[in-house]
Amino acid sequence: MMLERAFGGRRVLVTGGAGFVGSALVRRLIESGARVTVLDDLFTGRRDAIPTGAEFIEGSVTDEPLVFDLVKRHTLVFHLAARNIIASTANPRDDFKTNIGGTLNVLLAAREFNTERVVYTSSASVYGNPRSIPINEDDRLVPLTPYAVSKLAGEHYCVAFYEGYGLPVSVVRYSNVYGPYQRPENPYCGVVSKFLIAANSGQRLCIHGDGGQTRDFTFVEDAVDATLLAATHPRAEGEVFNVGTGVETSVNDMATAVGRACGREIVVDHIDRRDIDNIRRRVVNIEKIRHMLRWSPQTTLDRGLEATVSWFRETGLLPTEAQAGGCGPAAEPVSGSKVG
Ligand SMILES: NC(=O)c1ccc[n+]([C@@H]2O[C@H](COP(=O)([O-])OP(=O)(O)OC[C@H]3O[C@@H](n4cnc5c(N)ncnc54)[C@H](O)[C@@H]3O)[C@@H](O)[C@H]2O)c1
Repeated sequence: MMLERAFGGRRVLVTGGAGFVGSALVRRLIESGARVTVLDDLFTGRRDAIPTGAEFIEGSVTDEPLVFDLVKRHTLVFHLAARNIIASTANPRDDFKTNIGGTLNVLLAAREFNTERVVYTSSASVYGNPRSIPINEDDRLVPLTPYAVSKLAGEHYCVAFYEGYGLPVSVVRYSNVYGPYQRPENPYCGVVSKFLIAANSGQRLCIHGDGGQTRDFTFVEDAVDATLLAATHPRAEGEVFNVGTGVETSVNDMATAVGRACGREIVVDHIDRRDIDNIRRRVVNIEKIRHMLRWSPQTTLDRGLEATVSWFRETGLLPTEAQAGGCGPAAEPVSGSKVG
């Protein structure tokens, strides 16, 4: 009901709305009566993920005239379009063009057309290896990947446009979002989807490193709730919020939890650490968003995994053992990659 009051009848632009989090956000906006346009170049997004009722424009946030034309026709902008950590590590220049250049285009257009609020989705990867945990928003920022650099640059532009031009922006720093619609065939999808596929096909799970690396895993609907609040709450303007659970979970514990959710026993193999796995521990402090926006996560890891498993089963995404391959040298391992 409150969401209907906030978004009903409003024209909302969602960049990256064909992606995992973006499509979940679009779904909620449409349910709330918003008139939603999705701008997405389908780099990792999928046309069939875009909820019915949204207008779809296939194009890039790097296309400045297109961004200006779209922002002009909307009052709210959720800017999620981004090259992900793996694509960014492989091609930092492409990441720069989308994650920094695309964000600047969105902000310049929003300034030009007096957009009522821009919400920018950043990442807890901006913290690098924290000195202490849980990580507060004003702790030291040490981006360790080109992706973290570009996400942080986007944040800085947002804050600068708020301070310098009075543009109403809010930033949410997500921490390892998982849930339904995170498609496992996307090579960049997160560790949860990959583990689910492996667990359900009876495969051994491959984990990069010793599995002791920790993350704060956030259920997608909780992340969407926080994002919607950041768009509407008066106290969110010009602010940066951690969005997580405050609960630290090791990748090994996640493997066990996935097994529990599937009702399977999981066997883990530890394989080489990768370049992007350079963050040892991460759990964020969510007191700021809890206090200022009255948001708190509603979904425990077990409940979130149950919902994710149900979606995988309903959509028939769980492969047979033969389709999924094995963990041996001849097959592509199902690995605990992208803990971001
Ligand atoms: N999923 C997570 O765990 C997580 C964690 C931290 C931050 N984030 C941030 O949340 C946002 C959404 O991430 P996601 O997990 O849904 O990823 P995703 O890859 O599923 O979604 C990103 C979307 O952006 C689109 N896109 C990429 N480049 C584009 C371009 N140049 N122009 C237009 N569209 C483009 C992709 O096609 C895709 O649909 C991103 O900004 C990401 O940095 C996600």
